[in-house]
Amino acid sequence: MRKKVLAGNWKMYKTQAEASEFLEGFLPHLEDTPDDREVVLCVPFTDLGLMSKILHGSAIRLGAQNVHWETAGAYTGEISAPMLTEIGVRYVVIGHSERRQYFGETDETANLRIKAAQKAGLIPILCVGETKEQRDLGETESLIVGQLKEGLAGVDQSNLVIAYEPIWAIGTGDTCDSKEANRVIGLIRSQLSNSGVPIQYGGSVKPDNIDEIMAQPEIDGALVGGASLQPASFARIVNYQA
Ligand code: PGA
Repeated sequence: MRKKVLAGNWKMYKTQAEASEFLEGFLPHLEDTPDDREVVLCVPFTDLGLMSKILHGSAIRLGAQNVHWETAGAYTGEISAPMLTEIGVRYVVIGHSERRQYFGETDETANLRIKAAQKAGLIPILCVGETKEQRDLGETESLIVGQLKEGLAGVDQSNLVIAYEPIWAIGTGDTCDSKEANRVIGLIRSQLSNSGVPIQYGGSVKPDNIDEIMAQPEIDGALVGGASLQPASFARIVNYQA
């Protein structure tokens, strides 16, 4: 059975003080969480060191939201994979639509980041997904196949997570119908050489739709933005009813 991966993506939210307050509220909810699922928090760089100390020995894995492809160098403002693994980071989100839209991320740079992350022992979470316009034009399938082809060129698929995140569903409350998400995720799986890669759905995942989403056979987890910021709401998501 494929591993289930429930990951919070905090984006640019939470100072260290707010992060520790979150953990105080969140950790007690995890006592009965079944061990068939991996719980990941992808947080701002500045929270990683502190959270790594607080989470030491716990089952929660830490993730970053970006990584540079060089190990070191004159790249002002960037963070490398060995800098992340040194402080206990295990996952990294790569190619999120907000990075593609606002920071010039392309399939090619996502590919470089994935390879550098894997080389350092990090598990990349590659995000793919279409805009509303692309969906309306019937381009969803070809767009995603292209993102996967370029993003995964030469990538080791034994150490990888993919997130299908339709852009029109992110932060809008307009969740993709779970059967449609299941269909697209099935298409994504058909493009992979390793059918064991966990594939998440992301885009307005909430406590009241997680059970239905996780009931879909192709969906192996969720990448959760807004609803991962409150302890009780993210706890309900990771403790989804199977
Ligand atoms: P959302 O964000 O859950 O707030 O829609 C998802 C994401 O951007 O990963």
